[in-house]
Amino acid sequence: MAISFLDKLRFPIPYVFDRMQRSFRVLYLGDIVGRPARKFLGERLPHMREVNNVDLVIANGENATSGAGINLKAIHELGAARVDIITLGDHVLDRDFCGEANEGHDFSNVCIPCNLENNIKCPDFVVGECGGIKVGVCVVLGRQFMKLQVSCPFKKFDEMFAKYGASVDIFVLEIHAEATSEKIACGWYADGKAGLVVGSHTHVQTADERILPNGTAYITDLGMCGAHRSVIGRDISSVLESFVNGTRCKLAVAEEDLRLNGCIVDFDRVTKSATKISRFVHLA
Ligand SMILES: [Fe+2]
Ligand SMILES: [Fe+2]
Repeated sequence: MAISFLDKLRFPIPYVFDRMQRSFRVLYLGDIVGRPARKFLGERLPHMREVNNVDLVIANGENATSGAGINLKAIHELGAARVDIITLGDHVLDRDFCGEANEGHDFSNVCIPCNLENNIKCPDFVVGECGGIKVGVCVVLGRQFMKLQVSCPFKKFDEMFAKYGASVDIFVLEIHAEATSEKIACGWYADGKAGLVVGSHTHVQTADERILPNGTAYITDLGMCGAHRSVIGRDISSVLESFVNGTRCKLAVAEEDLRLNGCIVDFDRVTKSATKISRFVHLA
């Protein structure tokens, strides 16, 4: 069948119209635990991005290398898997990933916690841009039941928002913390300022995603990417040995029942406000 000039013309119009109309979509992944999770992410994320029309992917990579910290190899693998921005947490000091040995490599998309005293040569505020919409991301570490000494996450958010809030369309705050109360409080505190507040660190996804009254999309914990036949990503028998007998042993990264945990958040392209947040569990 011949295709007329008009038919040819018709194809791009709905496509362009759809691109203009549909939401700006962010996919945010919970802590990536070890090599099995990196490999699984590499196999699944590119396709997930396409079928879900995702504009920007943010992922916490604090456990990406052997379950503790991140190295250059893992940063490159996550980039190849099409993660745009990598955030880190309390394991940021476990590996000297951007030290002298790796000078000359680009770490501009790796976001370190902003309320921790350190001399790591990485940004504590990272901007990702897609289709003219700028998304700025920062991470604060919590203070309840956490080992690292950090400054107040609430005051640090104020400082970061005052410094960078006007320069981006959507401000994203990740609170990497143990206590659900501290994370929930952080969501309320940033409501109406941040477009999205997500919690990370516990590796267990919470079922409380919602849009807060002043427009901030929120979830207490994204969960983790890694083996769910495990104790938060680590081998069950070695963790039990440690808890029950008090034996200090290497906690191997588990490999069975791989899953990706996270959320997808939609933003209105005009107002830049969050319109929907949905958590997901992607199974092998
Ligand atoms: Fe953590
Ligand atoms: Fe973690």
